[in-house]
Amino acid sequence: MTEPLRLVVLVSGSGSNLQAVLDAEAAGAPFLVLAVGADRDGTGGAERASSRGVPTFVSRVADHDTRADWDAALTRLLDAYDPDLVVSAGFMKVLGPAVLGAHRVVNTHPALLPSFPGAHGVRDALAHGVRVTGCTCHWVDAGVDTGPIIEQRAVRVEDGDTVETLHERIKVEERAMLVDVLTRLAADRSWRTPLP
Ligand code: GAR
Repeated sequence: MTEPLRLVVLVSGSGSNLQAVLDAEAAGAPFLVLAVGADRDGTGGAERASSRGVPTFVSRVADHDTRADWDAALTRLLDAYDPDLVVSAGFMKVLGPAVLGAHRVVNTHPALLPSFPGAHGVRDALAHGVRVTGCTCHWVDAGVDTGPIIEQRAVRVEDGDTVETLHERIKVEERAMLVDVLTRLAADRSWRTPLP
């Protein structure tokens, strides 16, 4: 049997995507969550990790003199786990060059990129009046939600949707998409070429 894909998952909020990854791992999916990192204290994601016995760490931008110092500190925290892949699952910070130079990172985003990047993908799609939106899993590059797309799932906007109702339906698709993508990346590791 091939070795499981070793993951560190980064979160900022409730961590329902993380939960889907942990549940899939428990059900035999070919990956292993080594640790969960957050950019703030008291996230639901860290709580979910702890209740499964998964180590957690917090790295707050505000605890560093510069953004570059935070980037370097987060890189060291990630390095310590030596993951195959870092998963940004509701992590609401743009990762810096040190992290991206040392680690492969995938992100999940609640809109059909390249439409509606940024921190308010659901709100912006709804405000624009689109009838179909969805979610995207992509490689992270130096831009904001600009990296190569790995997978997308579509979700219809229903009359009367609010940001909350729409986001909840997107997240159902997003959790399944993320687990499918990680399963595929575990099965075919040809993406693991050396970082430039
Ligand atoms: C997810 O919908 C994720 O795509 C989004 O935050 C949510 C986190 O939910 N991320 C972004 O908007 C990043 N731009 P979760 O904490 O329940 O997994």
